[in-house]
Amino acid sequence: MSLRSTGSVSVVFLWYLTVVLGQGDWGVTYSTQSICVLKGSTVELSCTYKYPGGHKVTSTFWFTKYDADGNPVNLSDDPDYRGCVMYRSDEKNRHTLIITDLRESDSVEYKFRITTDQPEWTWVGRPGVTLSVTGLQVEVTGGKMKTLTCRTTCSLTGNPTYIWYKNGQQIDESSSPQYKDPVYSNYEDSYSCSVKGHEDLHSPTVCECLFNTGTLSQIQESQIQESQIQGSQIQGPSRLETLTVSGVEGLV
Ligand SMILES: *[C@@H]1O[C@H](CO)[C@@H](O)[C@H](O)[C@H]1NC(C)=O
Repeated sequence: MSLRSTGSVSVVFLWYLTVVLGQGDWGVTYSTQSICVLKGSTVELSCTYKYPGGHKVTSTFWFTKYDADGNPVNLSDDPDYRGCVMYRSDEKNRHTLIITDLRESDSVEYKFRITTDQPEWTWVGRPGVTLSVTGLQVEVTGGKMKTLTCRTTCSLTGNPTYIWYKNGQQIDESSSPQYKDPVYSNYEDSYSCSVKGHEDLHSPTVCECLFNTGTLSQIQESQIQESQIQGSQIQGPSRLETLTVSGVEGLV
């Protein structure tokens, strides 16, 4: 009687130990849980993993979606990411996913999956890494003294330095996404912002124009000439487009 009950206690105890150890030995550790980066830039998501002895890992991959059978789709086979993903692993068990030329639609959760030689043993690290991709938008407020705000849809990771442009020339840098232009506004000033290290991904230019004299086309023309003369860093179609948009807003 006493022997039997001891036996069942140890069986339960062993089972419990196996479950706890089995769970504890699997794991994916991501280097970050969420990250906010600029549209058009490149992001690197990385993780390390561990698995119990007695298993052999046959493959690993990153994924965001499942196929019709409910199996995760290797991100490098996902047509939505064609040509934009790379995998990199190092000898320190760090597994990195690199996504280039980020789009806003890439703002989803990325998870890492481990497959072993035993089909019943696969592992997905949950929760994964939540990626948020944002563009930059400069907002100009105030009367003669302008306040510029560089707007993003998520808070950029890594304490970015904002760079401010006025009429195509860099005017200042700041760690705050807000900047007060200390110079009274001219008849027409155009503003833009970017983030240090990603100056090529600047926001569209916003023109603060007074429309009481001149027509829209005159303003566009003078802006274009001005940017040509100054050899502006902000060029071409995106500038014109924005001018048209803000011009229409101004007229309405
Ligand atoms: C996922 O894609 C990577 C890169 O193409 C490849 O090395 C890896 O073997 C793939 N894994 C699976 C399970 O298909």
